[in-house]
Amino acid sequence: MDSIEINLLSNTAGTKKMLVDLLIGTVAAGGSVSFMRPLAPEMAAAFWNKSLQAVARGERAVLGAWNGEALIGTVTVLLDCPPNQPHRAEIAKLMTRLNYRGKGVATRLMEAAEAVAMEKGRTLLVLDTAKEEGASGLYEKLGFTLSGEIPDYALKPHGGLTGTLIYWKRIGTV
Ligand SMILES: CC(C)(COP(=O)(O)OP(=O)(O)OC[C@H]1O[C@@H](n2cnc3c(N)ncnc32)[C@H](O)[C@@H]1OP(=O)(O)O)[C@@H](O)C(=O)NCCC(=O)NCCS
Repeated sequence: MDSIEINLLSNTAGTKKMLVDLLIGTVAAGGSVSFMRPLAPEMAAAFWNKSLQAVARGERAVLGAWNGEALIGTVTVLLDCPPNQPHRAEIAKLMTRLNYRGKGVATRLMEAAEAVAMEKGRTLLVLDTAKEEGASGLYEKLGFTLSGEIPDYALKPHGGLTGTLIYWKRIGTV
């Protein structure tokens, strides 16, 4: 898909509404992104409110993928690391709208997230993903290395425990 555009999102009502819809749709389809299903609109809105406030404080970057006026994907780069980890950032809340999956949207978002982290001087990315119904294949394609698994880490959106897989990737180093 050539026509998608990736940019940094800020705290506007229109963007927030689209993020809420995207998160609810992702959870409804079984995506493991910290929430149980059905995800109430109020809970989704509270999450994005808090997240976009953290963006305004420079503690994270939220990226959006756009097809024209439609938000079709997002990823978050967590930059607020402890004082002894100034070189690290974490990837979170990667999701692509259901009918746009398999077209490279998440790959584009991850490339942009990596670029943002590098601009901020970060040289190490970490992330975790559910063992069942997560996105480990995608992260491995993008060069992330598996550290290991923590069993029974979280509930799947529809219930039942799944392990989590921890990944890392060095960026911006020669
Ligand atoms: C995971 C997700 C973001 C992938 O989005 P996408 O836009 O369809 O991904 P892409 O089209 O960029 O896929 C790139 C490659 O990764 C592979 N891939 C995508 N999702 C994958 C998954 N869940 N497991 C394994 N491989 C996957 C694709 O097959 C593709 O491979 P190819 O290049 O050989 O064809 C999307 O499925 C989603 O929103 N899932 C629900 C939320 C979720 O689980 N997010 C991850 C939380 S850690």
